[in-house]
Amino acid sequence: MLLNLTSHRATLCLVTILMWGTMVDCLIKAKLRTCGTTGFCYRNRAFADDITSLGTDAHSPYTIIQDSILFSEGNSHLHADIENTNNKILFTLDVTILQDNTARVQINEKTPLHQRYDDHARHTLDNPLRPVSPSQVQKGGEKTMIALDDTRALVIYSQPFKMEFLVDNVPVIIFNDRSFFNIEHLRTKANHKPKMIKEPSSPDVMQDTTKLESTMWAERFVNWTDPKPNGPESIALDISFPGFSHVYGIPSHASNLDLKETRGGPNAYLEPYRLFNRDAYMYDLDTPFPLYGSVPIMYAHRKDISVGVFWMNPSETWIDVTKTRSKDKKASSTSKTALHKMFGYGNDKMDDSTAVTGTQTHWFSESGVLDIFVFFGPTPKDIVRQYVSLTGAPMMPPLFSIGYHQCRYNYGDEEEILDIDNSFDKNEIPYDVIWLDVDYTDGYKYFTWNKTSFPDPLRLQKQLEDKGRKIVIIIDPHIKRSNAYRLYREAERADYFIKSPSGDDFVAVSWPGPSSWVDYTNPNAINWWARQFAFDSFTETSENVQLWNDMNEPSIFNGPETTMEKQMVHFGGWEHRDLHNLYGMLMHRATAKGIRERTAIPKRPFVLARSFYAGSQRYGPVWTGDNIADWGHLAASTPMILTNGISGIPFSGADITGFIHEPSMELFTRWYQIGIYQPFFRAHSRYDSEYREPYLVAEPFQTLTRAAIHRRYALLPYWYTLFYNAYRTGTPMMRPMFFEFPEEEPLFTEEDQFMVGDAILVKPITTEGAVSTNVYFPRNEIWYDVETYFCITTPGHTTVAAPLEKIPAYQRGGTIIPYRERPRRSANAMQLDPFTLVAALTTKYTNNTFSCVSLHEDPTGTDATDFAQSHQVLTIERIRILGLKTQPTHARLYAPDIRPYKDLPFDYDNINGVLSVGKPNVSVIDCRWSIVVV
Ligand code: GLC
Repeated sequence: MLLNLTSHRATLCLVTILMWGTMVDCLIKAKLRTCGTTGFCYRNRAFADDITSLGTDAHSPYTIIQDSILFSEGNSHLHADIENTNNKILFTLDVTILQDNTARVQINEKTPLHQRYDDHARHTLDNPLRPVSPSQVQKGGEKTMIALDDTRALVIYSQPFKMEFLVDNVPVIIFNDRSFFNIEHLRTKANHKPKMIKEPSSPDVMQDTTKLESTMWAERFVNWTDPKPNGPESIALDISFPGFSHVYGIPSHASNLDLKETRGGPNAYLEPYRLFNRDAYMYDLDTPFPLYGSVPIMYAHRKDISVGVFWMNPSETWIDVTKTRSKDKKASSTSKTALHKMFGYGNDKMDDSTAVTGTQTHWFSESGVLDIFVFFGPTPKDIVRQYVSLTGAPMMPPLFSIGYHQCRYNYGDEEEILDIDNSFDKNEIPYDVIWLDVDYTDGYKYFTWNKTSFPDPLRLQKQLEDKGRKIVIIIDPHIKRSNAYRLYREAERADYFIKSPSGDDFVAVSWPGPSSWVDYTNPNAINWWARQFAFDSFTETSENVQLWNDMNEPSIFNGPETTMEKQMVHFGGWEHRDLHNLYGMLMHRATAKGIRERTAIPKRPFVLARSFYAGSQRYGPVWTGDNIADWGHLAASTPMILTNGISGIPFSGADITGFIHEPSMELFTRWYQIGIYQPFFRAHSRYDSEYREPYLVAEPFQTLTRAAIHRRYALLPYWYTLFYNAYRTGTPMMRPMFFEFPEEEPLFTEEDQFMVGDAILVKPITTEGAVSTNVYFPRNEIWYDVETYFCITTPGHTTVAAPLEKIPAYQRGGTIIPYRERPRRSANAMQLDPFTLVAALTTKYTNNTFSCVSLHEDPTGTDATDFAQSHQVLTIERIRILGLKTQPTHARLYAPDIRPYKDLPFDYDNINGVLSVGKPNVSVIDCRWSIVVV
């Protein structure tokens, strides 16, 4: 049957099977490990259970050696030694107080057998850390206190080791409260002392012990053996958030925004959340299973405060989440867990109505060191700023890239591309970028062109460039092993490939068949890779060409869980195990560098990547991978993108209308209607899908889709401003409701509506056949329907009409949104168009004046004045004021060159209270004007 399929994926899978004898079918989902079949996960859960089963007698074996505590660098840094009293192994503790309510906690082995992987920071952190002196430190017998200021402090307990982070004397984060802190020290197999169970109480316990030991030095999964040359080396810690009912973050999972429990509790998952980048083709929904990217940041939020932790470790990581409820006393929660241990974990039917009093998390990573940042907030926006000030500003994307992208796996040749390009114009649908998937290459050899399909790539690029459009091409990290391929020869000779433990290049299968993978941790390989994008190297490319890095988890068709075996070796001798989750970001970084450096004056690159890690925001957008054209996947795209956004990666999106399978026309339309409000707006579909460019679909769907895309384009000035804001502050463009309304409790679990910036509330329609929907309107605000301007003043849940032609979206009173309303073919073509401003009034509107203020920090500086000079022609052609209760008699423009004023034409709609002031034609650059409505 496979032979009849013309698809490359199917053909390649067949090739894979024939050549490698392994039953790898890329059309089938990969089998995944569970916590129970992953040694370090199983061991750390078991460690936690052992401690918990001791109830009130439980205590952590780790203690601080009292006279080792030492403050330095103006008390911003504390160093101490920690001892594991069970085996006398020593560890170092380093605590650093940083600017902006941030603290760093690092724990490493004091005298490890060999260095533990700690090279992650230079890849992950972008900015120099700025330590600050605390306002006070107190070194006592049992506890050491560091006060950051009058309200924030941290207390380090010595016996056993525990850390509390306090706000107004109340702990908001506690490390090792449950005594799950555990570092498996490095050892040799000969020296390893198997854990002894003192009094085996039941056969089950014996069984557990065997299982604990059995995976320490090698581990089997399906047909693979992971040899684990370093033996057990995991690190684990429990992090509690007392008083917090909600935690968020740790993308990427197809899960809720408000994270679920993972060990008992209503609706709990049966597995911890897992961070392990992998090709998650056709992923299931509502699971804690790992997807393409990993960002180990977590927020805890409640009405009065948000706090956060960033667990900076790029090895495989699992996170258990549990909650305490008002009925649970500490003892009863202990016995509950003990019972779970005996009878297995699962969805228990606990009464959902009991109030949650706190959230506990338990983190475990396979290797490396413990390196955690703590953010004191106090608001969600503060946390994202604190986080990106460490891991780097989200990149300010080029304008074209926030327009609409048209992709398909594959567009076949130059003629097809030009035909699509023309069809968009003929059908008056704007778009900015057309994409080329793997078949544009000469046999999956990246940095080459298939000259039969693309005989003159520069001609094609020029034609698109002339229309103000771009082309994006795919480049993956696997390099075809062929001596006839320059890239392969160069990388092979220079030793730029990841190695197998034997020292040979690692070889496995991806699109080209047998391939090797570039080692982007090697500085020379990074530079070499970046140079490939130079116009004299990648011939027949021009500035018009932008990039797409796919399969960078890395995806390996014949690898365990479709990825790389962990024993493979990187530059410096580090095992792939240590840095697996970093790999995708390092490729993204090297590609963005190449695109930046190919022009004498670096230009902002556009590079999309599928795999990501903390810091990927510096290099470009990401997307949610190979989703399915169904309503569930459409709904899931909202929490997934929101979670990426609060995790420092604001520029993300989902394949519009679904990559796999065919959408119904209703789903197709609804998907576009949501897509226009998501940051990365790209349609994509699989090789076997019907062609579904928006101009091909039947009416009324085509008209509705066209209208939606036009609305996106009209809003580009607003989006661009939000992207700039994200670049400056980290605040995502697409925001969870609780980000904007952190005190409004009903919104803490809301993932079915969201904010675009602070001004637009969007309610996606994700149910088939819906004609109405329920929207939660936050308190103390007025909301205006963005299409009809109808005003809603009732807070809380309201049912609104949502027939297929309606995208429920509302402008918040007190905001001004800039639009460009002239329909054009692309973002580029709109750049000099005048603006329409829509100002939505609050109840507090008083002095009837609309005026202009420059927000530039240095409006008279050269940057600002040069920019102003180049944008002199930009004007405002219309101002709409929403919520004006009475019809004015005049709208008067005051400006230096107009004496005394000019009466402007206006219309007033007395049903919705909308005043439209026409043709003020005032500058957006020179602010010396105002409009008074009387
Ligand atoms: C992967 C990508 C998909 C792409 C395909 C072919 O499945 O996720 O977007 O079209 O590979 O390159």
